[in-house]
Amino acid sequence: MRINERFIQELQDKVDIESVISSSISLKRRGKTLVGLCPFHNEKTPSFTVYPESNSFYCFGCGAGGDVISFVRRMENLDYIEAVKAVAQMAGVSMPEDGYDDTLSKQRLRLLNANREAARFYHECLMKPENRKALDYFLKRGLDINIIRRFGLGYAPDDWCELINYLKAKGFTEQELVHANLARRSDKNGRANYYDNFRNRVMFPIIDLRGNVIAFGGRVMDDSKPKYINTSDTLVYKKSNGVFGLNLAKNANDNKLILVEGYMDVIALHQAGFTNAIACLGTAFTNEQANLLSRYADEVIICYDNDGAGRTATARALGVLNKTGLKLRVVQMSGGKDADEIIRTHGRERFADLLKSAAGTTEYKLLEVRTKTDLSTDDGKVEFLMAASEILAACSIVERDIYSTRLSNELGVSADSIKAQIRMAEGKLKRIAESKKRQETEAMLAKSFEDKNNPERASNLRAAKAEETLIASFMRNPDFYNKLKEQITPSDYVTAFNRRVFECLSKALENGIEPNLSIFSSDFTPEEMDSVTRIFHLSSSLSNTLRECEDCIKVLKENSAPPVKDTSSMSDEEFLKLFKKK
Ligand code: UTP
Ligand code: MN
Repeated sequence: MRINERFIQELQDKVDIESVISSSISLKRRGKTLVGLCPFHNEKTPSFTVYPESNSFYCFGCGAGGDVISFVRRMENLDYIEAVKAVAQMAGVSMPEDGYDDTLSKQRLRLLNANREAARFYHECLMKPENRKALDYFLKRGLDINIIRRFGLGYAPDDWCELINYLKAKGFTEQELVHANLARRSDKNGRANYYDNFRNRVMFPIIDLRGNVIAFGGRVMDDSKPKYINTSDTLVYKKSNGVFGLNLAKNANDNKLILVEGYMDVIALHQAGFTNAIACLGTAFTNEQANLLSRYADEVIICYDNDGAGRTATARALGVLNKTGLKLRVVQMSGGKDADEIIRTHGRERFADLLKSAAGTTEYKLLEVRTKTDLSTDDGKVEFLMAASEILAACSIVERDIYSTRLSNELGVSADSIKAQIRMAEGKLKRIAESKKRQETEAMLAKSFEDKNNPERASNLRAAKAEETLIASFMRNPDFYNKLKEQITPSDYVTAFNRRVFECLSKALENGIEPNLSIFSSDFTPEEMDSVTRIFHLSSSLSNTLRECEDCIKVLKENSAPPVKDTSSMSDEEFLKLFKKK
């Protein structure tokens, strides 16, 4: 069952796409449209465009597009019904009670409830006298009871089914608990056997920006392995996008975030008053995490561990974060391996000093290459200067000037020759950038024929373009459809994807619904909406004539007519048939 289409249309009329989108990203007016930095891919120059007139958006950089519902769906990672509900709420409209399929959102809600109950259970267990060793573990690591409460820390008992039994008594099924990754299932002698996923571990709940418990991390209290077990991906959690502590840090409102590696670092920092500390979970820092951070801060200070893995992670995070336009600084950790250790051994003042002296990106990169070369030899100096020039070639004139003077004084090489070296490196960088751009343009040209949602497009380009022109024309001029509908049916469509789009469109037109993007958003996934939106925006380059549509229909008819066979290769029977027909 689906949501009543009239309701969706009404909703589209009431909600203002401009205000919905501008509540998550900042938009600038440009004539009839608005532009901003795309939230769905990393970019520094805006190619994300909002069209208030057609209530739609389209990104010329990554091809993401759709209506207001698909925007909310992607942005908040919701399913269709949830997104409609969210949009209805923004527009102050109540949802019709009847007839829609919300199985998935119900399942999610169940998982979130199970997680919340589990977090409560773990927290209560932590406070029980018989589990004193768990509370002692946290206390010994310097946490006080207030911070333990604020983060909702807990303890998973040393038992195979205590949590399962507790949650079953609350009405959850074993299967739901497996889906939430709170329990696991093993099959022995053909019988299903369920057991708690987290056992004898101190527990860190991961809470999203809306206050939902979406996952857990559980740590052993000794040196056994694995040190942490984390919730794997579930319906409500994608590990590679997880951020720990942002629910609290988002209120710190100094527009800066301190990025650390681990759960304990975040908590120790919050306890010491650095309430803007967060950790990005998952093994590699992702674009999604970077985009999320850029919505809550304009500066990120990276404080990763003082070891090889930490430095590699810093380089990666810098690369990913650099695309967001966030201001970046890196703390040179000293006096301990991580933030937690530094605060515990030297106090909060020491960490505050480290933050103050955090290096900007350029300085950090220079320090990095410096530690790799031996500056006491001439060879080492040359090696270092070559590497430094490459770093400085990407910097502003002012930065270049400052650093070349500094390096000149330190290394006894003239500032002029350092600057000359930088210019050479710049030339090299430019050549690399140009060839990369050329490759990208070529790839883009090749890609513009391809469409991930319509794999048949590239090999049926002429027909596919005709199909798309027809769709765009009919959307813009419903009366063309009424005049031509006898001449074109879905079966004339060559590519299956465009056929679906056409079917959906003609259904709406037959029902007298004013065509806009929202008529597609229940039948097409947000990814598919990208292609629908691309087709829709063709309408600006149409000639908008009946003639154009007729030509397109001709192209499609040619394509669907059976190929004329060479009569010499026909069987007698076939030949006879053809002959009679003629
Ligand atoms: P670390 O090994 O640096 O641990 O991992 P830590 O955060 O300093 O933890 P403590 O101080 O020993 O308690 C950093 C982060 O990497 C993830 C966790 O999120 C951890 O906080 N991690 C680490 C895992 O997910 N699994 C592991 O086995 C280890
Ligand atoms: Mn640590």
